[in-house]
Amino acid sequence: MSEYVGLGQKYIMNSYNRFPITVTHAEDVYVYDDQGKKYLDMCAGIAVNALGYSHKALKSALKEQIDKLLHISNLYYVPQQIEAAELLVENSIFDKVFFCNSGAEANEAALKLAKKYGKSKNEKKTNVITMNHSFHGRTYGALSATGQTKYQKNFMPVMEGFSYAEYNNIDSLKELINENTCAVLIEVIQGEGGIIPGNKEYLQEVQKVCEAYDALLMIDEVQTGIGRTGTLFAFENFAIQPDVITLAKGLGSGIPIGAMLCTAKADVFVPADHASTFGGNPLATTAAKVVLEEIVQKDLLDHVKEAGAYLESELNKLKEAFDVITDVRGMGLMQGIELKTAPKDVVNKCIEKGMLVVGAGENVVRFVPPLVITKEQIDEGISILKEALQEL
Ligand SMILES: Cc1ncc(COP(=O)(O)O)c(C=O)c1O
Repeated sequence: MSEYVGLGQKYIMNSYNRFPITVTHAEDVYVYDDQGKKYLDMCAGIAVNALGYSHKALKSALKEQIDKLLHISNLYYVPQQIEAAELLVENSIFDKVFFCNSGAEANEAALKLAKKYGKSKNEKKTNVITMNHSFHGRTYGALSATGQTKYQKNFMPVMEGFSYAEYNNIDSLKELINENTCAVLIEVIQGEGGIIPGNKEYLQEVQKVCEAYDALLMIDEVQTGIGRTGTLFAFENFAIQPDVITLAKGLGSGIPIGAMLCTAKADVFVPADHASTFGGNPLATTAAKVVLEEIVQKDLLDHVKEAGAYLESELNKLKEAFDVITDVRGMGLMQGIELKTAPKDVVNKCIEKGMLVVGAGENVVRFVPPLVITKEQIDEGISILKEALQEL
């Protein structure tokens, strides 16, 4: 084991459960540890490294930008930021973009936007409905929005003004919503909650209910967005039209960036309402620009659809062969296998055999590889998973 494991435990706050692996470099869809071991990466920094680790255009754009300008404040216009926003707007139903640095921050921005929108209608219209088993981040607003007590219990009281509906149950939402609801914040596939896809008719009903109460429909696309499900945004698969979406993870393919997008109806921020020193920074938006160009101008989305369908069908074959797998679900390159047991043993066995995967929910192993993963690399992953399941 690397000396960094001990040093990390000595110097870094103990807020993560880490595997005893020290990753030093990566190539294509493989990462390497400091002992020289190679791992197929089906985790991608938890759905982040969309273009993999060797994307030439991304690397050269970033290197060039480092020489030009690393940071400047939002007191000025930033070309890369505007170009990334243009790509987001011109390829979506949205009209405006606010850049920040992470998924939690994007959700904080969305929550503030929703409250301001609500207050413009009625001073008490500030309540937000989110879903049980949702995940929206660890900052206070995002944590309060997260409908899972395991994340909240040590930090109570969380913020007021949130209520939690049962996911995929429209009656539960109808019971909670009223004229003081300013927004419904929802994932179209619950990621951390265990790769739980929303039902199409349900999500369409959610939109109608939001419209009836003049509440903003806000989709958290932090994990599902940026091509992960085979469309630029996952909500496109459900034929719905949200007012707001939040993004992060894949948007920078490894460079920290988040974004909130809204339609003209929800475009209520004015100067000083919200800000971020680093938000939309030239280096981060250079990365976003390359990622978006790759996704909207190349065949990457078709590739994700094809590779995702292949991964899903191969996982289903394993489900037939292994009783321990009770379900396979997901969309595109966001797939999960539900197990009869906790995911820990399977995750550890896969790592031992040279593949990084990550758990989700109570009993799901999640596959969120770089979007550029090939069929052959998926085959390699499936055979590692098969061996792992055989040995357990
Ligand atoms: C749906 C969703 N929203 C928000 C977040 C929080 O993002 P971040 O860790 O970048 O703050 C995550 C992270 O896993 C997520 O999956």
